[in-house]
Amino acid sequence: MKGIILAGGSGTRLHPLTKVVSKQLLPIYDKPMIYYPLSVLMLANIREILIISTPRDLPSFKELFADGADLGLKISYAIQEKPEGIAQAFIIGEEFIGNDDVSLILGDNIFYGAGFSKILAESIHKVEVSKKAVIFGYYVDDPERYGVVEFNQAGEVLSIIEKPKDPKSNYAIVGLYFYPNKVVQAAKKINPSDRGELEITTINELFLGEKEIDVQLLGRGFAWLDTGTHESLNEATEFIAAIEKRTSLKVGCLEEISLSKKWIRREEMLENIKGLKGIYYDYVRKL
Ligand code: DAU
Repeated sequence: MKGIILAGGSGTRLHPLTKVVSKQLLPIYDKPMIYYPLSVLMLANIREILIISTPRDLPSFKELFADGADLGLKISYAIQEKPEGIAQAFIIGEEFIGNDDVSLILGDNIFYGAGFSKILAESIHKVEVSKKAVIFGYYVDDPERYGVVEFNQAGEVLSIIEKPKDPKSNYAIVGLYFYPNKVVQAAKKINPSDRGELEITTINELFLGEKEIDVQLLGRGFAWLDTGTHESLNEATEFIAAIEKRTSLKVGCLEEISLSKKWIRREEMLENIKGLKGIYYDYVRKL
């Protein structure tokens, strides 16, 4: 399974914060936002990763992660010229994906919860064995802002609709998706929506029509954080700060995940971060 992080978009809702900086590079407490979605792919044991961003911002991501070798990863990069939709990631990433299955995560989505690694492993297993897509629903108060999934009494999925005016449930589809390889062909087939975007929800509707999608609910005790507004950005920082202080552990520490998975030796890591200062790297050195 390969992984794609979509980290483009115009970020206009966060201007002037994002006037010259990518939204996905804004700080969430002690690290750039993109660390969190990258950590999710790493926890899912995905090591070949494509970062897609704008012509303006892609060089910054390259400077941040280079080829990923310092983390035991293989990171490559691609440009999305214009924000023409989340599903365009599969067209841009076609060559990178090759014959593999693929996971897509939005560069501004933050996840936190016990048992997440297990959920990720099970999702990948399901995609690989049954060739079904796996996506996730999360209870929110404002479903009209998201893709929304509707269930029947038996818990079967009836519909998935993008930003419905009249939401049929409170379950938003989060920005983490696992697909079998044929998602690439699906992305090439779909038409732009009324807002002119290749919608990820249209892809999910296609899979639903073929009965080839599984929607798992992320339950109580699980946090999915939104970073779409100034307020939610601030809340995400406060949340991560509180968890990190109380547990004395870092959320989304890429070096820690890499070390724990033995993708890199401790001596190598220490060499890589030699001379780097601050609480983040002090933590890594103590691991
Ligand atoms: O966050 C989950 C939601 O993400 C889902 O519930 C929705 O179904 C899905 O459409 C999406 O909704 P948003 O309205 O939040 O999408 P937005 O346009 O804000 O894009 C999400 C991120 O992806 C954002 O950081 C920018 C990036 N992006 C978006 C588009 C459309 C790109 O890099 N390129 C794009 O073309």
